[in-house]
Amino acid sequence: MRPESDDRYYTDGVEVPITPPAAAEPEPWGETRVVGKPLPRVDAYERVSGTAVYPADMTLPRMLYGAILGCPHPHADVRSVDISGATRLPGVRAVISAFDVPPALGPHAGTMRDQLFPTRCRYEGAAVAAVAAETPYQAFDALRAIAVDYEVLPFVADERRALEPDAPRIYDEGNRVGDPQRYARGDVERGFAEADVVLEEDYRTECEIHTPMEPHGCVAQWDGDSLTVWESTQGVYNVQPQVADALGLPLSKVRIVGHYMGGGFGSKLQAGAYTIVASLLAKQTARPVKLTITREDSFLSVGNRPPANMHIKAGVKRDGTLTALEFVGSGTGGAYRSGGTPTSFLLADLYLCPNVRTELTDIYINAGPARPFRAPGHPQSSWALEQMMDALARAIGMDPVEFRVRNTPTVSQMRNGIPYTTTGLRACLEEGAKAFRWRETRDEITRRGSQGHLRRGIGMAAGMWSAGGGGPPSTAIVKLFADGSVNLNMGASDIGTGTKTVMAMIVAEELGVPYDGVQIEHADTSTTQWASASGGSKTVPTESPAVRAAAIDVRDQLFRLAAEELQVDPSTLSLENGSIMCSTDPAKTTPLPRLRALRQRRSITGVGYRGPNPEGKAINPFAAQFCEVEVDPSTGEVRIVRFLGTNDSGRVMNLLTYRNQVFGGITMGIGYVMTEARVLDVDQTGKLCNKNWHDYKLPTALDVPADMTCLPIDVPDTEANTAGAKGIGEPATIPTGGAIANAIYDAIGVRLTDTPMTPAHVVQALAARGEG
Ligand code: MOS
Repeated sequence: MRPESDDRYYTDGVEVPITPPAAAEPEPWGETRVVGKPLPRVDAYERVSGTAVYPADMTLPRMLYGAILGCPHPHADVRSVDISGATRLPGVRAVISAFDVPPALGPHAGTMRDQLFPTRCRYEGAAVAAVAAETPYQAFDALRAIAVDYEVLPFVADERRALEPDAPRIYDEGNRVGDPQRYARGDVERGFAEADVVLEEDYRTECEIHTPMEPHGCVAQWDGDSLTVWESTQGVYNVQPQVADALGLPLSKVRIVGHYMGGGFGSKLQAGAYTIVASLLAKQTARPVKLTITREDSFLSVGNRPPANMHIKAGVKRDGTLTALEFVGSGTGGAYRSGGTPTSFLLADLYLCPNVRTELTDIYINAGPARPFRAPGHPQSSWALEQMMDALARAIGMDPVEFRVRNTPTVSQMRNGIPYTTTGLRACLEEGAKAFRWRETRDEITRRGSQGHLRRGIGMAAGMWSAGGGGPPSTAIVKLFADGSVNLNMGASDIGTGTKTVMAMIVAEELGVPYDGVQIEHADTSTTQWASASGGSKTVPTESPAVRAAAIDVRDQLFRLAAEELQVDPSTLSLENGSIMCSTDPAKTTPLPRLRALRQRRSITGVGYRGPNPEGKAINPFAAQFCEVEVDPSTGEVRIVRFLGTNDSGRVMNLLTYRNQVFGGITMGIGYVMTEARVLDVDQTGKLCNKNWHDYKLPTALDVPADMTCLPIDVPDTEANTAGAKGIGEPATIPTGGAIANAIYDAIGVRLTDTPMTPAHVVQALAARGEG
């Protein structure tokens, strides 16, 4: 999601085409020698040894600790704040609130101003006051000494009640966020009339919380009128304009550094109230301030995947032709406009269907604002669509894999029928089914029936992600030193996915140097080039072409120098193991440090830019997942026995980091539908009941199958970009929930349409059917 302030700085809301300064479009790779290999991360040692410095680990001389006082009520007016008690406590150096803020908020603070010391608090956890003290303990003690006079207001914390006429209003204009979003093609009524079978079902997914290992936070330090913030972020260039806006500073005076970060999943694409608060406290005290939010606050105020209420009506012919899909969905982005609905994209684009109608309603409630969360909107819709696809297949007696294969499109129906650059959906379905032994397992389960009291079942689902990388702008710089060592400079963040490793491999591919020797400067608005935030599964497809072009620029310059010095034709030269080789004269082999021309130049700097995506084409990654479960109908326990994820994300850049994404995506999907749910006390207090890792259940190693398989459909997409990759992070989690629900149905014949599928939920569903 694009932060509001982006528009003011960069586009004024109007997009003009960007022509990169130099359109370097190298030939696609043939055989690669480094790219694609399962290579360990360049920073593996730092990560596992604990020597990597995350913002939460940073310590600066004279650093203070900040803490934020959150509103304890879901809806309240702040009548007054008395900070006098807090300011008198030992070690306290600054206290700020709505009534005591230094006048530093800039004219464009926008939504940031709304969420920074509001006098009307619309969610539990809204920042009411903040302190800076010598130790974290003194800071938290000081929060307790701040006296706030609240006028508690009636609240609504359930979007299913928020549109009722007597529901408390969160804004004067009501609790509906604008008009519903609608999409339609064809004629659904005619489609239903033509169908042999029409099914309808309601589905719901609960609100999921990001809960990254490293809570959100930063360290802020001023030097005169310029500010440096070390932020736990997915995109330093997203945070920079937001901080500049909030504080009324020029972009050049705001330096955001974001080297290591301990998980974001979409919730760290923007500056937080904490970023601004830390900067204000640092200004006021003239000392660096670290502000890491509490675990509880990370559940309340820095985002979530909104709950979704969905209804699908679908029509199909006996031969497996989909005739109509109707999707009505609603959700809530909490108390602010923050993208609360499930997506209609999957309904409109994943399967061939001439008649589609969707309607999405976004609703305000008194809860923390949503933020993008790994494939925003998609796991919700996939949960509904993929269960409906399973039910339709059963209703017409067709295998669910075959049913999906039959409805595989080659063009994007939602985007006026433009073709995909590549579509591996069919390959994902067919090769995935084969590798999973789908038909054999199905036959075997049918043949053997239940063994003892446990019931076995298999299920599958497919999916796609709505983006495939983009740009320009995307710029990278590669510098070759006289000793043959290399430095890569790029603005992109490595959010734990292995971006640095993949980019170093690209440099190694083109320059014949060891990938783990490439020194990387990244994610720093003062020292590296502008890059979009690492989100949308687009870091690799967006940045790889620029990095590749920069390395090729270095190589071209080097070959020109070397050809002259070695008296050979540049086209005969290649780079291997740190040496220049000549294909026509092996005696000319020269280690880079021996190349006189390079020594005298001191270094060669190459600049690379990314060109635009092809016009009139859609670039999308595709996925299919298969799983086997064992259900105990007496306890409702579900054991996920094995899982196979197959993805068409174009070229596999690094098989290890690719697998990590697939297994991580499946694990996250398992948590999403099996155990995770934000529990709000919607009746009495409106407060969040499970804001900690004890009561909010994330899957652990014991909750995921030991038998997980990643099967890449490794076909480089040469049209998408010059690296051939389409992005893997988000498509890897989209179909997981539906695949599990379908497997459970296969095992016990009960369809669980609501998450989470806890043992109690399974037993209740069986009981409702008169079993269990
Ligand atoms: Mo993602 S939800 O774009 O980090």
